Amino acid sequence: MLIAGNWKMNTDRQRAVSLARDVLEHVGDSDSDVLVAICPPFVNLEAVSSVVSGSAVRLGAQNVHHAESGAFTGEVSVPMLQGVGCHYAIVGHSERRQYFCETDETVNEKVKACVDSRLVPIVCVGESLSEREENKQEEVVTRQVRKALSGVDLPDAASLVVAYEPVWAIGTGRTATPEQAQEVHALIRGLLVQSFGETIGKAINILYGGSMNPGNAEELLAQTDVDGGLIGGASLKPDQFAAIVESARNQAAIN
Ligand code: PGA
Repeated sequence: MLIAGNWKMNTDRQRAVSLARDVLEHVGDSDSDVLVAICPPFVNLEAVSSVVSGSAVRLGAQNVHHAESGAFTGEVSVPMLQGVGCHYAIVGHSERRQYFCETDETVNEKVKACVDSRLVPIVCVGESLSEREENKQEEVVTRQVRKALSGVDLPDAASLVVAYEPVWAIGTGRTATPEQAQEVHALIRGLLVQSFGETIGKAINILYGGSMNPGNAEELLAQTDVDGGLIGGASLKPDQFAAIVESARNQAAIN
């Protein structure tokens, strides 16, 4: 299981450091059954890295460029992220697809660059509200997952994380029901098994994201194919984030 906090474009340097300290204090030492990660804005990665280094809390970035270096003004590469201690990078978040022209093709390039260099991509997929209303979620998610993972040579299950984030549930307070989440997670599980075989496909963490909070985490995390959460709003509140981690620990103890 993995609980990852996506801080989005929030926190100045000082706030990022104090939030990271609070998370450490609230979450304590993460156990091996439930991994914990936080993803601050690029400019605060290094400051947060010095807070969490040596602890079990892992660091992630919110985006990455597929090239190693070069004339790509404003972009940040895989080795740069690894140089400041990142273990993960979120790839293809719906806000990036929606506002920054990311496509299934660019997502695929990023995933390949990450996996090749052992930075773990958290690949986000999910349908929009109108696609859900037209009952197209399976078609959309299947296309997104297939394209994101096309040509990816995965050494093991820990090298990839997938996050199902229905766009209509992000930051809206509207959550997918546990049944809706499980239905799409099971679909993703099948695609992962198809791509990488039974052993790896079954062990890849599939996170749910979209208004996950302490009130709904337990039910969502209890679903067979929900292996954690990608948390936006609630990750900025250490007590709420810690409560979600606690739910994941309880669930891991049952499994
Ligand atoms: P939310 O965001 O928890 O605020 O809905 C989740 C995400 O966008 O990753």
